[in-house]
Amino acid sequence: MPGDKSISHRSLILGGALSVGETRIEGGLLEGGEDVLATAAAMRAFGGAEVEHLGPGEWRVNGVGVGGFAEPEDVVDCGNAGTGVRLIMGGTMATTGITATFTGDASLRSRPMGGRVTDPMALFGAQSVGRAGGRLPMTVVGGAADPVPVRYVVPMPSAQVKSAVLLAGGLNAPPGQTVVVEKEATRDHTERMLAGFGGAEISVEDTDEGRVITLTGQPELKPQDIVVPRDPSSAAFPVCAALIVPGSDVLVPNIGLNPTRAGLFDTLREMGADLTYENMREEGGEPVADLRAKYSPPDMQGIEVPPERAASMIDEYPVLSVVAANATGQTVMRGVKELRVKESDRIEAMASGLRANGVTVEDGDDWWIVTGLGAGNVPGGGTAASHLDHRIAMSFMCLGMAAQKPVSLDDGGPIATSFPIFEPLMAGLGAQLVRANA
Ligand code: S3P
Repeated sequence: MPGDKSISHRSLILGGALSVGETRIEGGLLEGGEDVLATAAAMRAFGGAEVEHLGPGEWRVNGVGVGGFAEPEDVVDCGNAGTGVRLIMGGTMATTGITATFTGDASLRSRPMGGRVTDPMALFGAQSVGRAGGRLPMTVVGGAADPVPVRYVVPMPSAQVKSAVLLAGGLNAPPGQTVVVEKEATRDHTERMLAGFGGAEISVEDTDEGRVITLTGQPELKPQDIVVPRDPSSAAFPVCAALIVPGSDVLVPNIGLNPTRAGLFDTLREMGADLTYENMREEGGEPVADLRAKYSPPDMQGIEVPPERAASMIDEYPVLSVVAANATGQTVMRGVKELRVKESDRIEAMASGLRANGVTVEDGDDWWIVTGLGAGNVPGGGTAASHLDHRIAMSFMCLGMAAQKPVSLDDGGPIATSFPIFEPLMAGLGAQLVRANA
């Protein structure tokens, strides 16, 4: 599996912008992972945080520290990467006094930045002007004013927003504290890595208000050697495909199982999936295991996914809906409004593509229900649109692997943002993926 996308972005940003000297990254999503490569290019654009390829899976970032940041000569294009733009714009650049303009592809330009990123940035004195609704392209003038202590309650469950404030706070803080409160726990890689990079005094407390994260003083981060676990969000595709394709028995090694990311696997097991963890261990500060997934009918039943689990599997609902279509009974997914503002409106994208392939889906503002047809009973034969969204594209490819007739996709290009080896890897497992233009 490819390296974890969330951890790869953070490795480049913490290594390139928050510390001075050489950070080595092993196993990051830098070989062809377009999202993370866009973040590497952005780091270079800010004045020489050099990112070098040392050999297969081995990368080096020569961090310039935020004091070494210089004004980019051109617009910074973050491609499809929400994590990249939000962590750089709202986190590292917010407190530099530098002016930079950010843009991205059509998907990223349609995603909300106002409220999520510009509001917390303003607390640090940064100013921003973007298109209507705070959309990219956006110009940011970093706040060089006196550092201020900040307390911020994240208004929606978003690790990107939380991380932006923690990074800005870490760079900006006077001898005082930056406090971020999240009502629901989201992925905690930033907290773990700030602590891991040494010097950041960070504490986390569960209270009635939510998870309270306190960062004390101005951390002096030291360059690190980082081992990036394999991405559970990518592992989700071969795992889910194995559960619904007859005869499958697939081992997916070295997968990160941070509890803030592993909700899909709990859900699948509750549905009756034959999915086991082997060789549980810890690597690079994250829990890791090998996943073994076997074809699972007739046992798999739809369930009501606990809404409080949503943040820990937010990127996996599209592929879960594919498994749900092959299970018996209804799978009910509530409390998932955030799915509407990802790389695409993921509820809409999956609902229309599933319907086009003979599956019944009902949906509302923050919920959707997939009615399972039972193993092997999805008719298929329809075309789905990927909407510039890698996870939508891969989900429909998995639907096609188990459907009665092939499923077509309008555009497989977005897959390269997170899973550049998807096609050969799935073909190696027996999937028949045919390029219409080949
Ligand atoms: C991510 C956080 C999530 C997730 C995204 C990666 C991160 O987004 O959907 O793919 O690396 O912090 P939100 O923060 O918007 O929930």
